[in-house]
Amino acid sequence: MESRSGAAARVGVAIPAAGFGRRMGGARKPLLELSGEPILLHALRPFLAEPRVVKIAIAMTADDVVSPPQWLADLDPRIAIVTGGDTRGASVARALEALPNDVSVIAVHDAARPLVTAETVARCVDLAHAGVGAVAGSPAVDTIKRVDARTFVTGTPDRSTVWHAHTPQVFPADELRAAYASGSTAATDDAALVEAAGGRIRMVDDGGTNLKVTRPVDLVLAEAILAARGPSSGG
Ligand code: CTP
Ligand code: MG
Repeated sequence: MESRSGAAARVGVAIPAAGFGRRMGGARKPLLELSGEPILLHALRPFLAEPRVVKIAIAMTADDVVSPPQWLADLDPRIAIVTGGDTRGASVARALEALPNDVSVIAVHDAARPLVTAETVARCVDLAHAGVGAVAGSPAVDTIKRVDARTFVTGTPDRSTVWHAHTPQVFPADELRAAYASGSTAATDDAALVEAAGGRIRMVDDGGTNLKVTRPVDLVLAEAILAARGPSSGG
């Protein structure tokens, strides 16, 4: 897919990896091993394999910036490691600052999503290159309930209109930068900021196996999904 200018996309990637893993009992999730490799390495592979990616900025803890794991320091010259912030949004903002000004498309991807595929990355980049924001996700399979602060049900949205939002979330670079410049970094995803700024965004179905490692059980599920994909899945 070509942009209006016909130029090829130059993609920058922002990877928030500076979280505290509280729901994982305080583990540094990006460095935990999954099927013998760090979760962060799994998460990076499809982006490293994407030829349009020119730079990957990873927001990590201050300790990681001073002494990054050796495998990461040696991995790829497109990678830069920056210090993250107190919230996911603040970490993404720091990573955005480390991407070159001439990238045309920016992808944001959680370090804690190791099952993302190269196909999902490519489809999202294609859309953003054509001028439409792209959010990997999947249609809701459960009925969704809206509740109040005391868990009393206040409504049932039509399930056919509800999706789960995952990452990658990929946007025209100027739109994402403007949204971060004017929005609050308290948002739990990047699309919410672009939505608030009036940007057009489409959901891209990632097949429902692009889970986020959040709780210990997710490690078990993720290993099972990787095993089912087989050794040649490449990410
Ligand atoms: N993240 C970050 N900086 C923060 C908080 C989160 O870069 N201050 C990153 C995490 O490292 C993760 C992604 O944002 O890759 C999604 O966050 P989440 O799954 O919530 O991870 P944590 O915040 O580490 O976990 P928890 O919320 O359970 O503490
Ligand atoms: Mg968190």
